[in-house]
Amino acid sequence: MNTQPEVFTDVFGAAKLGPVTLRNRIIKAATFEAASPNALVTDDLIRYHQLPAAGGVGMTTVAYCAVAPGGRTDGWQIWMRPEAIPGLRRLTDAVHGEGAAISAQIGHAGPVANARTNKAPALAPIRFFNPLSMRFARKATKDDIRDVIAAHADAARLAIDAGFDAVEVHLGHNYLASSFLSPLLNRRTDEFGGSLENRAKVARGVVRAVRDAVDSHGAKQIAVTAKLTMTDGVRGGIPLDEALQTAKWLESDGGLDAIELTAGSSLVNPMYLFHGDAPLKEFAGAFKPPISWGMRMTGTKFLREYPYREAYLLRHARAFRAELTMPLILLGGITNRETMDKAMAEGFDFVAMGRALLAEPDLVNRIKADSAVRSLCTHCNKCMPTIYTHTHCVVTGAPDALTI
Ligand SMILES: Cc1cc2nc3c(=O)[nH]c(=O)nc-3n(C[C@H](O)[C@H](O)[C@H](O)COP(=O)(O)O)c2cc1C
Repeated sequence: MNTQPEVFTDVFGAAKLGPVTLRNRIIKAATFEAASPNALVTDDLIRYHQLPAAGGVGMTTVAYCAVAPGGRTDGWQIWMRPEAIPGLRRLTDAVHGEGAAISAQIGHAGPVANARTNKAPALAPIRFFNPLSMRFARKATKDDIRDVIAAHADAARLAIDAGFDAVEVHLGHNYLASSFLSPLLNRRTDEFGGSLENRAKVARGVVRAVRDAVDSHGAKQIAVTAKLTMTDGVRGGIPLDEALQTAKWLESDGGLDAIELTAGSSLVNPMYLFHGDAPLKEFAGAFKPPISWGMRMTGTKFLREYPYREAYLLRHARAFRAELTMPLILLGGITNRETMDKAMAEGFDFVAMGRALLAEPDLVNRIKADSAVRSLCTHCNKCMPTIYTHTHCVVTGAPDALTI
């Protein structure tokens, strides 16, 4: 008979994330805001994060602070540079004023980067045609890889200077580090290709550089997390067992305070990130011809549908929980108290929520007050193509329809 008392982790209790204490275990996942037209912070972006902060999250995540101008998925995204710091400081101050912590998602979009709007070449493990930008990504040289790793360290230092509590290193969605992990995209024959050990060098190198930069900064210590793809759901792409091995290496390298577990590929299988309806018409409508025509013709192949269910990534994530001891953040279809409690009961340390908090930034406070509250998010995914104009929920109108 099991005589151990059952340990109940309260999702609303305060929790340590590395050196930082969050007021609860609920994190707003990065949802690109499209609120930085000059690649700088705006009042709009501040409001975007103030709302979930006032709405009760433990930490909000700013998406997506590229480490280099060519590492953006579009030219209007912030890239980490001294010029961005005063605006980012206003943003972190505003979020702290609401009692929440704030993380900066840092990364290089690699083959997902839009070389056309960035006015800078994109990088990939091999020369690669990106149909959305209608441009080729250049094969990254060893010097490029060294520069990108160093740029992550610089970005982490800037994040500390700007008052962030954490950085989330993007190792997912077939962005640069993730594209090196993918056997499908990484066909290199040098020391960065071939074996998983070689393909994981960029991801591990980036995390190591960020950890060193944070540890040696001298000012306040921040948490370092990573968003890692468990599988991209693509034949020949990143399989679960390889991602698990990468996660084990990241754990033993000791550079991370937590891993957020994601899935899918922005490049070849975006709907695997989300599950739910594929907003084909709206997605095509976000582009001009000929891209929109191509999208309408081949869209169902690109936007494959996966049925939505609560905690749809839990099955995969369990494999990581079973084999890792480090803190893990469960993501994907978390919208209510029951699912949060389930995540805690299964040993996850934090939960991250994207669409549900985009739809209702005050959802966390409402769930705290009444555990029966249900999310208004319908997983229609029509918020997804709004990243090309101004990200919002088409069901509730948030965040535009709200005042702080
Ligand atoms: C509009 C929108 C924008 C997103 N932008 C980003 C992003 O910039 N970086 C990122 O890692 N994930 C991004 N995501 C993915 C979310 O962080 C999250 O992984 C996904 O929505 C699944 O979580 P959910 O079921 O809680 O929404 C975005 C999602 C949405 C809906």
